[in-house]
Amino acid sequence: MEKQLEELKQTFSEELLLLHSPDDIEPMRVKYLGRKGALTSILRLMGSLDPKDRPRMGSLSNALKVYMEEALADKLEGLRRGSVFKGIDVTLPGRAPSKGCVHIINQVVSELEEIFLSLGFNIASGPEVEDDYHNFEALNIPEHHPARDMQDTFYFSNDVLLRTHTSPVQIRVMEKSGLPVRIIAPGKVYRCDSDVSHTPMFHQIEGLWVEKGITFRHLKGVLYEFIHTLFGHDIPLRLRPSFFPFTEPSAEVDMGCIICKGKGCRVCKNSGWLEILGCGMVDPEVYTYVDIDPGSVTGFAFGLGVERVAMLKYGIDDIRMFFDNDLRFLRQFS
Ligand code: DAH
Repeated sequence: MEKQLEELKQTFSEELLLLHSPDDIEPMRVKYLGRKGALTSILRLMGSLDPKDRPRMGSLSNALKVYMEEALADKLEGLRRGSVFKGIDVTLPGRAPSKGCVHIINQVVSELEEIFLSLGFNIASGPEVEDDYHNFEALNIPEHHPARDMQDTFYFSNDVLLRTHTSPVQIRVMEKSGLPVRIIAPGKVYRCDSDVSHTPMFHQIEGLWVEKGITFRHLKGVLYEFIHTLFGHDIPLRLRPSFFPFTEPSAEVDMGCIICKGKGCRVCKNSGWLEILGCGMVDPEVYTYVDIDPGSVTGFAFGLGVERVAMLKYGIDDIRMFFDNDLRFLRQFS
């Protein structure tokens, strides 16, 4: 009888695996546990057993009955949930793999590149580890100039440093390719500085157009078109005289504050204007460093900070957010 119970358990288990619908459970229960079921028929043989074997057989068949009842109940629950596997709920929504996105600063760089490409500029690049000559000297920044101060510049040695601006690309491009040049140079720059509006690494875009007959009007036309495309054509703009060692005359372009619409607020320091970029006509002195006859051409240059543009465009008031790598911040721009 013990052998019969074992065989019954085996066939029951195999048959249970083949069930695929909750409706199959009841017929299966009747087949094994019903009044005329397989287990019941074995129990009927109990009377013919030697009385001393009866308690053991009684408890074995009772255990099998409990096993079958529980297995049928589990199986029913599994089939109702749509799963044939115990413990796995296939009706739960899947876990989607998280998707990355282009960093907001790179998105803004691409947007700015598109505008300048449409204005006929090419894209140039230069090294982030620069020498003193290209970063300062050839840009007419004399040795005692405050920009060379140890506090601002990261030096590797007396002569090798992390570029503090993208302007050295002007020099490299003029050294290498002949005239005319009409390029922008986006890239990372480094300064030893950190607060709400400064990070030790940030991005600039340098622009340079050198060709016979280029005047200040070209500068104004290109830069106004650029800013209007970026921020809207109704934004007021103005040029304000300024100074850079590598341009003469030099100017800064201000746009009407987009936060307060010119009324005066914390962002524009109550002036109603936001400084957006520096620019000017290439100083003739710069041409002499790249073997161009200063009398033969004219050109203009400009430089702007990408993070500043992104902050204004998206109303971000702390530049460090861009580089904290907080995914909750970065995902907003995906
Ligand atoms: N290199 C300047 C800076 O880092 C930005 C700049 C200003 C670039 C005027 C220019 C320019 O080409 O004409 O602050």
